[in-house]
Amino acid sequence: MNKFIVVTIDGPSGVGKSTVAKLVASKLDFDYLDTGAIYRTIALHVGNLEGDSLIKALDKCNYDVVIENGIKKHYLNGKDVTKEIRSEKISQKASVIATDSRVREVANNLQRKLASNCNIVVEGRDCGSTVFPNADVKVFLTAKVMERAKRRMKELNEGRPNKDQIFNIDRIADEIKERDFRDTERENSPLKRAVDAISINTTNMSVEQVSENIIKLVNKEVATPHFLYKILCLLCRWVFKFLYKMRSYGVENLPQGRAIIAPNHVSFLDPPAIGATSPFKLHSLAQDYLFNIPLLKWIIPHVNAHPVSGSAYDTGVMKIIASLLRKDEKVLIFPEGGRSHNGKLLPLKRGVALLSSMTESPIIPVAIIGAYEIWPRNKRFPKLWGKLSVVYGKPIFWKDYINKYCDKKIAQQQMLNDLAKILQELQANFKRD
Ligand code: DC
Repeated sequence: MNKFIVVTIDGPSGVGKSTVAKLVASKLDFDYLDTGAIYRTIALHVGNLEGDSLIKALDKCNYDVVIENGIKKHYLNGKDVTKEIRSEKISQKASVIATDSRVREVANNLQRKLASNCNIVVEGRDCGSTVFPNADVKVFLTAKVMERAKRRMKELNEGRPNKDQIFNIDRIADEIKERDFRDTERENSPLKRAVDAISINTTNMSVEQVSENIIKLVNKEVATPHFLYKILCLLCRWVFKFLYKMRSYGVENLPQGRAIIAPNHVSFLDPPAIGATSPFKLHSLAQDYLFNIPLLKWIIPHVNAHPVSGSAYDTGVMKIIASLLRKDEKVLIFPEGGRSHNGKLLPLKRGVALLSSMTESPIIPVAIIGAYEIWPRNKRFPKLWGKLSVVYGKPIFWKDYINKYCDKKIAQQQMLNDLAKILQELQANFKRD
């Protein structure tokens, strides 16, 4: 189980959920799920069927969403129905079939499946209240009916030569009211603001303003460490100070905003030593088998650890780390890729320089001194004494390397060479005061 972030954006028809959700997802580098498209596709599939025949037909409704040339396409049983499901007839029909509890069950299961294993913005009617009750950020958008009708008309007119001629705004407003009534009054999981959702009245707001508000909520949520994280850091700080007289140096080198914290790695003590000395919340990586161990699998996501299977630099993991850095988070990455057997620095892997170049994040070299003597790789248990020091070096910046070397690969290699040199120097020149 990983701690992926789920953002739900609910609200009535025509309030601008899709536009806002797409923009928020693209700015945060999250996936985006349009749950209305699922109901629309089911509506298209079942046509005029009712009652038991409708329910039987659900078994043969295979919905899929694929990205083609950067555009999301909705498929029903292998056929592209992206355009078809946007008609007014399907809008009304979707609202009708959505009142059926069995239809909702099918749609909800599909939503949860599509939203697993990624950071995602989900947009719909009951996403925060019913489908994702544990979502990290819940937003409920509202706007006056006439404003929503105007927005809907603009959307329908897009690409037409004689704007505003084909659609009548009062008729659109009436249809919106009719759908509102059905969506809010239905017995099964009606359109409803979750008690813990933040309401945003978008009547006089631009799409950018609404999106910015939501992004701020997400960033605040991501930046606030879980109480478990705070407790564990505090506990490690006390224990390490008591047993190993732990001291930290150069903490002021940690910048505000995004950064890659890159220490040498010799011991299991290294991650908690960094967590306990950093004044900022950090994200880290952990082997995925740890996420299957009973108590650990609950604790680990709350301490901002993300699973890696095999290499920390496989594409899935790189994507997660890059998206965290782009959200101005700090990520702890051991550039050697594993613990050294003899306490000496191993050759550094390219991934850390690659991430710095992809996200323009500074790298902070960190020397962990004394951890090898206390708990080396070949010992099952740590000593209960020793001296532990954590030395934060000055940040190194990607732009300095790319400006100097111009070629990306050469710049990355030079950055790595310097990082290795600094890590060695920090250790060699260290004197404990
Ligand atoms: O968001 P939309 O207009 O594409 O949705 C079409 C219909 O689907 C809407 O009138 C109600 C229904 N729906 C729902 O009941 N629950 C959702 N999460 C999404 C849509």
